[in-house]
Amino acid sequence: MRVLVAGGGIAGLTAALRADALGHDVQLIVKSELGDGCTAHAQGGIAGVHGPGDSAALHALDTLQAGNGHGDPVAIATLADGAGDAISALVADGVMFDRTAGGSIARGLEAAHSLPRIAHSGGDATGRAISDALIARVRTSSVHVREGAFAADLLVMNGRVHGIRLLGGEEITADAVILATGGAGQLYPATTNPAGTTGDGIAMALRAGAAVADLEFVQFHPTVLAGAAPFLVSEAVRGAGAVLRDAEGGRFLLEEHPDAELAPRDVVARAVARQALAQGSPVLLDATGIAGLAERFPTIDAELHRRGLDWTRGPVPVSPAAHYLMGGVATDIEGRTSLPGLWAVGETARTGGVHGANRLASNSLLEGAVFGARAAESLSTSPPDSLQSRSQFAPPSDLLSETIRDLDADERPPSATNRDLGERAATFSRAELQQLMWEKVGLLRDDEGLADAVSRLASWAAPAPRTPEEQEDANLLVVARAVASAALDRTESLGAHFRLSPAPTRPALNRPAPHELAESRPALIGAR
Ligand code: SIN
Repeated sequence: MRVLVAGGGIAGLTAALRADALGHDVQLIVKSELGDGCTAHAQGGIAGVHGPGDSAALHALDTLQAGNGHGDPVAIATLADGAGDAISALVADGVMFDRTAGGSIARGLEAAHSLPRIAHSGGDATGRAISDALIARVRTSSVHVREGAFAADLLVMNGRVHGIRLLGGEEITADAVILATGGAGQLYPATTNPAGTTGDGIAMALRAGAAVADLEFVQFHPTVLAGAAPFLVSEAVRGAGAVLRDAEGGRFLLEEHPDAELAPRDVVARAVARQALAQGSPVLLDATGIAGLAERFPTIDAELHRRGLDWTRGPVPVSPAAHYLMGGVATDIEGRTSLPGLWAVGETARTGGVHGANRLASNSLLEGAVFGARAAESLSTSPPDSLQSRSQFAPPSDLLSETIRDLDADERPPSATNRDLGERAATFSRAELQQLMWEKVGLLRDDEGLADAVSRLASWAAPAPRTPEEQEDANLLVVARAVASAALDRTESLGAHFRLSPAPTRPALNRPAPHELAESRPALIGAR
């Protein structure tokens, strides 16, 4: 089978390697260079080394609880049960995990885990170690790698995906396409994600009519160095004993949650944001009580020195930043999407609901490894021409359907100025979009702000992309609309989606009525 994988993080690399090992003819495309994505930036590690007193069942329970009960127990059990094999496979692929004096993989603690079960490599350079090892394996495999190939759109015929159109127009056909292009951290001005994390796969899937889910759940990491260039300070630092202090030196998290600094990430991030607002300055992360900071966290230590900060002697200022998207292209636990011929894995996917409303620390690398392999293994058992069961994918809400119908209008030539385009004419800058998302669709949300964001995003148009930057901006706009409308749709607070006030009656949106847009073409989703 000809398999086309888009994206070169842990999920894409794992899927490509496993598909190659199974005898498929695999091509892997990335828009810049292999190793440029989020995986190489991951500090925290990979969860799933279950020591004495621990088990996959306890790991699954922690995952379900951190996700506010919104996760799917079967998907979560699949993740936790798969951890042992996934970590062994990484070791076999050459990943050198940090070990104890006795030679077993050392287990670190992070927030909302009942026990230490996180494997690290090079202290805080786990993602880099995994990325380097898997890239080395791919380079010596039969996988055909193409760098600088920007996947712009899915090729869909008779409802079935049969390849990808690259920016520039070249078409690559395949029997199966696996989207693994990562998340969309660049929706926000402050993010831990690298520059290329622009929701490309999610935008492609939305344009092609694939089902998406849980896009309102955006995770903000609580401890990112405050300043112009956000830099993650791993949760492992709090796991090792660091505490958060207000301007007076008090530990404000003690009043928030019984687990204080080790409470679930959404709780800590909101408390940090609120405290910073209240005191008018960033809160402080105090790691002075931890011995051997430079040895345990060399990457963070080097960055702090570069910024002239010495965390062995005093606390350092931190703020929340966008970190991870729990939602994405809806898949089952084999990565199958609602569209025959299309799979999605890693942060691009909403993998059967594995993260619920708030991802547990260090479960993302694990998700990529476990479900990247499962997707590859399912290729032969789900012939691309067969109709996939769509009943398992919830239909989109009216608002999301409306947002998705709007995408049709964007695809029309700029000369199409009929009423279906409504007032949509305004161009936008990426900075404007990011600021809007930060202010209205950020950590603390309310109905008025969300409705305003939906309305403004609907009024913006992205011109037909010619450059990678234009394609990224067009993708960000599509994903921003879907995230904002999903957030407006969920009227209660849940996990990472937090509303400051109960939702009043939804105000009318400043946009064309759905029936006006629907006249032009059948709805992409919901009509299937
Ligand atoms: C971190 O190192 O704090 C991030 C780990 C994760 O996102 O799971």
